[in-house]
Amino acid sequence: AQYTIVDKDTCIACGACGAAAPDIFDYDDEGLAHVILDENTGNGVIPEELEEDALDAYEGCPTDSIKVDEQPFEGNPYKYV
Ligand code: F3S
Repeated sequence: AQYTIVDKDTCIACGACGAAAPDIFDYDDEGLAHVILDENTGNGVIPEELEEDALDAYEGCPTDSIKVDEQPFEGNPYKYV
């Protein structure tokens, strides 16, 4: 299983993640991204059919604000670094 979370502190609202994975990422009023699935806690399992989209978003984020791991993040984007 895979999990994902956005570090909203480093997101610059570029919009690439929502374009790559519209079923996973959405934006707040300031354009900052978050994970729709689990209110950006990083605890929700990415549906298998969306895993590739998640990786595309991960690779495409210019500020490395999107984290992906095989374990839940429990709200902390830096849990595994
Ligand atoms: Fe932000 Fe990166 Fe998405 S900068 S809008 S998390 S692609």
